[in-house]
Amino acid sequence: MIEAAVVNNGLDGIIVAETKISQVDGQLGQLIICGFDAEELAFASTFEQTCALLWSSTQKVEASQSTLQKQFGKARRTAFELLQANPFILQQAHPMDALRTATSLLTGGTETDICEFARITGAIGFFAASWSRLHSGLPLSQPDESLSHAADFLRLLANEPPTDAQTKALDIYWTTVSDHGMNASTFAARVVASTESDNISAIVAAIGALKGPLHGGAPGPVLEMLNAIGTPENADKWLTDELNGGRRIMGMGHRIYKVRDPRAAIFEKAIRQLETTGQTSGQLALARAVEKQAEQLLAQRHPERPLKANVEFYTAVLLDAIGIPHNLFSTMFAAGRAAGWCAHIAEQRATGRLIRPASRYTGSYPSQS
Ligand code: COA
Repeated sequence: MIEAAVVNNGLDGIIVAETKISQVDGQLGQLIICGFDAEELAFASTFEQTCALLWSSTQKVEASQSTLQKQFGKARRTAFELLQANPFILQQAHPMDALRTATSLLTGGTETDICEFARITGAIGFFAASWSRLHSGLPLSQPDESLSHAADFLRLLANEPPTDAQTKALDIYWTTVSDHGMNASTFAARVVASTESDNISAIVAAIGALKGPLHGGAPGPVLEMLNAIGTPENADKWLTDELNGGRRIMGMGHRIYKVRDPRAAIFEKAIRQLETTGQTSGQLALARAVEKQAEQLLAQRHPERPLKANVEFYTAVLLDAIGIPHNLFSTMFAAGRAAGWCAHIAEQRATGRLIRPASRYTGSYPSQS
């Protein structure tokens, strides 16, 4: 019988790949995406430019904003035709279930070029917006291929053109969440790609992993929490009751960050920018007060372990301020993170090998007689 010395349940700190795509420094609270500080990139780039950067990390990609915009437009068109031919696919009540089903119909191979990655990433955003339309009583709508991915997404969602400030805020959101080290959904995508399975199978696995409340499913509950708390004075009692009931505070804590998640600050800045244009949901002050209180209560209960705001806390406030319905939050995350999943699939195909960890058997053995 061969036994591994240590069982690492959760793989904390285990390095499974070398990557040029992103770096998460949990002590410093820094996220680097393809050599750029995430905040700098978020305010300087469109989502298309971020995709070009991510998809160039393993191969040279010469892609301008207009080239990528065209590729994304084509992707939305193909996704529209797929939905027209299969109108039932978006009927599932949970948007992540619908997204997973619709994405699985894309099919395809193992190519790692920008046409392939724009085809996948563009379709995911289109599916999310179309799910929202259908579930709010609007008919399926054709994409406007002349618009950027963010602008067309918001146009489809609200059935009217977005403001420039809303489009910029969504570009900031998608760029910021586009990649984040070896998170669970990215790892899931890499595991599937490592078996030399096709790209869509890898992406569908990633969507499944992202759906969970410990990963991408938290921002909806964060907004529900803020709505339930209502005013800063109620925060202490509400949070204490949650913790006494054995429940976790959504949007707080992170496996890697020991300090505040740097993406929280990026989103706060984006919300303040939106507020200067008169676009506000008024939740920022409440969110800050609830965060402060939650941090204090968690520090009392877990002095050994810093539990601070993670990306999902201010995702809820930012997406709400842009005007995105809260049942769509996880699919919004998927629409941005798809860019990183694609980059990781390419990197895994180029540099990785079959991912196949070991387990320690604790069951019974056949009798010796
Ligand atoms: N609220 C209350 N307690 C929390 C907590 C939270 N948000 N996050 C962690 N803890 C506690 C756990 O209950 C556990 O306590 P115990 O040792 O007494 O059982 C301890 O901290 C360690 O938790 P663990 O689940 O081992 O940590 P992790 O590194 O696996 O967790 C998260 C990371 C993100 C899954 C976790 O912090 C969490 O569940 N957060 C809320 C969900 C969320 O916001 N998800 C989005 C992540 S980006």
